[in-house]
Formats: sequence, C-alpha cells, structure tokens
Amino acid sequence: MASLADAGLKFTTLPHPAPASDETREAVLANPGFGTNFTDHMVVIEWTEGQGWHNATMGPREPIALDPAAAVLHYAQEIFEGLKAYKQADGSIALFRPKANAARFNRSAERLAMPTLPENLFVEAVERLVQIDRAWIPDAEGASLYLRPFMIATEAFLGVRPAKSYKFIVIASPAGNYFKSGAPAVSIWVSEYTRAAPGGTGAAKCGGNYAASLVPQGEAIDRGHDQVVFLDAAEHKWIEELGGMNLYFAFEDGTLLTPALTGTILAGITRDSLLTLAREEGLNVVEGRYSLEQWREDAASGKLVETFACGTAAVVTPVGKVSGRDVEFTIGSGGPGQLTQKLKNRLVAIQRGEAEDTHGWVHKIG
Ligand SMILES: Cc1ncc(COP(=O)(O)O)c(C=O)c1O
Repeated sequence: MASLADAGLKFTTLPHPAPASDETREAVLANPGFGTNFTDHMVVIEWTEGQGWHNATMGPREPIALDPAAAVLHYAQEIFEGLKAYKQADGSIALFRPKANAARFNRSAERLAMPTLPENLFVEAVERLVQIDRAWIPDAEGASLYLRPFMIATEAFLGVRPAKSYKFIVIASPAGNYFKSGAPAVSIWVSEYTRAAPGGTGAAKCGGNYAASLVPQGEAIDRGHDQVVFLDAAEHKWIEELGGMNLYFAFEDGTLLTPALTGTILAGITRDSLLTLAREEGLNVVEGRYSLEQWREDAASGKLVETFACGTAAVVTPVGKVSGRDVEFTIGSGGPGQLTQKLKNRLVAIQRGEAEDTHGWVHKIG
C-alpha cells in the first residue's frame, strides 16, 4: 500500500488567519451536539486524470469554490466516510479501525467510478487533522471527534460519464454522547420504500443513498418513530438495515443473527467488530436472512429476546418497538436488553482504551 511518500505527496500547511478563540471552542465543547459544530482546519487533496493525487493541503476550514457545472452537483458523484477519534484512558488519542474506513471508502469509490485513494494516505489525512485540531476533542464521557472524509467530482462538464477531476476533503466535528443516560430503546418504522436493490449502490457510502432515505425517515418521524427500517427490494420480506445503522437479532438459545452482506446493505465497521466480540462471548453468530414476519412471530413467542442497531454514530442502540403498515410489536420488555448492554460495554471499553485491544483495532495517534 502506497504511503504518503510513495504517492509523491507532501502536505502544505496553510496559515490559519483566525482560528476559534479558546472561549469559543470551550463553549462548543461544553455542549457539542452532533454534526453542527466544526473544528478550525480541513484537509484537501486533489485528483486529476493523468496527474493522479496531488496538491495536499492542511488549511483553514472554509467554503469550497465549485463551478456550477461541477459533476457532483448534477450526477451525484460523491462518497463519504464517518469515524471517530477518542480520548483514551491514558490521555492519548486513538482512531477506531481507520484502515477499515479507508478500504470501504475505496470500495465506494470503485462503485461510483471515482479514483481510489491509497489507504495510508486516507489514514494520514485523518491523523493530521486530528493532531492539528486535537484541542477540539471533547472530554466528556461518551464524547469524541467525528471525522468526515469525503470525495466529490469537481470537473465542470454536463455529460454523464466519470469526471476527470475530484477533491478529497476531511473535516471534523466534536460530538457529544449519542446516548442520553436512561434513554429508552428506539422505536422503528418498517418502510414501504426501498433503500437499495440488487446491483444498485446499497453497499456504497454515497450521498445519493441518504438523499433517497430522507422521505422514508421523515415518514417514520411523522408517525412518532425514531428510525426507519428497510426491507429487501425484490420480495419486500427480508430485513436489511436502518437508514444509518445495521441490525442484530438475539435469540433465547444463544444465537445472534445479522443480515448477511448481499450487496444491498452497508458493511458497517461496528457490525463487523460486534461479529468478532459476540463470537468471543460464545454466541452462535449467524450472518443470514430474517423476515419481518419471522421477527414478529419470534418477538411474540419470546424466542427473540433482543434487537439492536449499531453504527459509528450511536455505537449500539436497543430497538424496543417495531411498527409498519400491517404490523406492530414489542421486543422483550421494550427496553434495553442485557446482551445489547454487554456488547456495547465491551466495544466502548476497547474504543476508549479501557479494555485490552487484542484485535489491533485501536489506532493510536499520540
Ligand atoms: C446505511 C448505513 N448502515 C450502517 C452503518 C454503520 O456503519 P459503521 O458501523 O461503519 O458506522 C452506517 C453508518 O456508516 C450507514 O450509513
């Protein structure tokens, strides 16, 4: 894998004329919320056909100039990632499995006919941003610095073909604890809409997937639910995932099932980490198919004891209630279950450096 040096790239650091004052930053960090506040800097790396990746800069976070004909604005050639930097128990800072994000970014790039980025360059860009903006990592328990690497097609051309120029950018946003203590389990709405079809872009992290999920997510909210769950496109029968999280189902016999990666759901890094941790717990972990009808039956009979959603933003979230056009059921007691809590605790302890990292997942950056 090419390193920064192999790629022939040297970062230029541009001066920042007006970084946030200590008071401003501390006010943000006291109540960071999620996705609304941003750090001082950003990374930009450019790609053009023939030249490849070049012009890597670390500079002030600022608006980007785009030609109104830029391909991203018309044909949605855009992909992104989401990962977090955590303060560790020993005071250092670490990313969680950033190489997995880099690999997924490249899989998304390939699906969207965009150039891939050397994995080490992706990781170094993120590391550099965390280092320069380390004062923006909140201290509170459960808080982190959310990193958003993304790529857009910048070529000014009104024709449907892959663009010949791109920008890779990384921005960062301090994030509070997604879990309010004592929060009940989430309630989810089974959508009539489809998120992804076989052969489509469901396994890619491209903006278009999320644009298409806004109406179904809005429907869920309007009906008083927190999240939307999507079924498969072909039979409208098999459970796929939520708008931004993967799902797990826990059974009384010690089986833990998650929908298999068939190409229509996103290969979550949290999902993958939990596969490993659950196997270590001695559970019979299965990647397979699970229908809405079976889910309802198993919840009613007590065979299904817990359901939880997982992803970088909310880590592990219990699902308490499921509603749809023809169904309505409660899982277990409707509140957080024991296994959900146990797996969440194990994962968070590793991410925070409070438990031994036996899998090489914690990527320290000093
Ligand atoms: C559609 C979708 N599924 C699942 C996930 C969970 O993935 P991860 O655990 O890598 O955050 C995300 C979030 O990135 C997502 O957007």
